[in-house]
Amino acid sequence: MEAPFQRRIVKTADGSHTLELVGMDEHYHSTFGALQESRHVFIKAGMLALTEKNSVLHVLEVGFGTGLNALLTLLEAEKANLKVFYHALEPFPLQREEYERLNYPALMEEKDQEETFMKFHESEWDKDIEISPGFTLRKESSGLGEANLRAGFFHLVYFDAFGPDTQPELWTQPMFEKVSLAMKAGGILTTYCAKGSVKRAMKASGFDIEKLPGPPGKREITRAIKR
Ligand SMILES: C[S@@+](CC[C@H](N)C(=O)[O-])C[C@H]1O[C@@H](n2cnc3c(N)ncnc32)[C@H](O)[C@@H]1O
Repeated sequence: MEAPFQRRIVKTADGSHTLELVGMDEHYHSTFGALQESRHVFIKAGMLALTEKNSVLHVLEVGFGTGLNALLTLLEAEKANLKVFYHALEPFPLQREEYERLNYPALMEEKDQEETFMKFHESEWDKDIEISPGFTLRKESSGLGEANLRAGFFHLVYFDAFGPDTQPELWTQPMFEKVSLAMKAGGILTTYCAKGSVKRAMKASGFDIEKLPGPPGKREITRAIKR
């Protein structure tokens, strides 16, 4: 689907890139540091809280975007010897001229990540694709409202849509109920958003809410545990 917005690549305070929605005061990541934010919100507060108890992780990402969260997840999974099935929703995929200019592979401690990063973006949609031994990616070209999610399947959800001011329809009780149904009991949903109305909608959808300190530039983030 053609994106209903214009994007441009900008550098954030930690040197990593993000995309800006031109004229909309919205970015794909925090301008205080994209890489720093992804590591803090999704990897530390989400994935690493589950790696000890599991040898396989089923991850759902709401908003695949640049693929940064997927790359960080793959690298952590390799370190922890963990198998990952990663289901990413993205109705407005990046164009080649955007993803090939992103500096994430070059910023990773682990060398030679360019090929993996390109594979993420160029792999076929709506199919399970093995990106590396132990890491399977399924990109679904639909939004959360339309997506086909297996019931009780996911251990971990990266809720990384645009903010509630830009996409209010995604931060509602019906959407969190849909996500909750797709998750295992005790599963974790993590997000950068700490808005009161969003936390109330999560609570009413079967989650217990934890407030965690945010990355630089953000006081708080939210981790929700499925009851
Ligand atoms: C804040 S960006 C984050 C993207 C990504 N996680 C990253 O690290 O680059 C939000 C993403 O949600 C996607 N998106 C927009 N509408 C959506 C929907 N209805 N369902 C799922 N994702 C959506 C956008 O296209 C965009 O890629």
